[in-house]
Amino acid sequence: MKRPTENDVLGEFLISARSLTEYRAIFELIDADLRGRILDCPGGAASFVAEAAELGAHVLAADPVYANPPAELRELARTETERGSAYAGSHHERYRWDFYGDPDRLQAIRLTAATRFGDDLLANPGHYIAAQLPVLPFPDNTFDLALSSHLLFTYADRLDADFHLAALLELARVTTGEIRLYPLVDHSGRPQDDLIARLRKEVHDKGIPTELRPTHYEFHRGATEMLVLRPNRR
Ligand SMILES: C[S@@+](CC[C@H](N)C(=O)[O-])C[C@H]1O[C@@H](n2cnc3c(N)ncnc32)[C@H](O)[C@@H]1O
Repeated sequence: MKRPTENDVLGEFLISARSLTEYRAIFELIDADLRGRILDCPGGAASFVAEAAELGAHVLAADPVYANPPAELRELARTETERGSAYAGSHHERYRWDFYGDPDRLQAIRLTAATRFGDDLLANPGHYIAAQLPVLPFPDNTFDLALSSHLLFTYADRLDADFHLAALLELARVTTGEIRLYPLVDHSGRPQDDLIARLRKEVHDKGIPTELRPTHYEFHRGATEMLVLRPNRR
């Protein structure tokens, strides 16, 4: 596995570790959302699956990093968390710190999540599926809800519009209810309005309604909306 050494540029896909509390805030999740079958893609080193499963949710995470040996990935989750926190701290002005307080608190929250992820990965490896958008190894309509945080739009500098469209259609294929995606800015905070408008039109033309829905969570300044697809209303 390639280990990035610099923390000033997110040159690789960061394997970040958000918690259930962060997912609840980002995606405006309510308890009823956690009752169905849920896909977290990309799952990264988030503790969402571990924590939601403890509450009785039926959750799976998909991410290509799960092809790596669990013990190695568990360790990488911690070093990646330190890299991500250092990046946020060194670009302090790009972020609003209301939710986290300060970079140290951010790192503490993410390290706790990374540890929970690592423990759950070893305990419940079947919850973590090695897969890479835009192809997912699930039958049609497997999930009631799909959550996609910090891949699409975040990495629009290296993932083109065709990739984004194929990924959205694949998430729609495996999901009967809503697909919620956040953030709608790239990793440096640039809004992706043109890309989002184009994608909304293309999925709408394929019969999938979309909406931009406010979220009260804001870390990257201006990232106050999620994109929602509702394939069940085809
Ligand atoms: C910034 S992390 C986000 C993880 C998690 N959703 C969170 O918010 O903490 C981005 C993740 O995208 C994964 N990734 C990269 N390319 C992918 C692809 N084609 N399909 C699915 N996941 C991918 C990376 O391995 C990495 O774990």
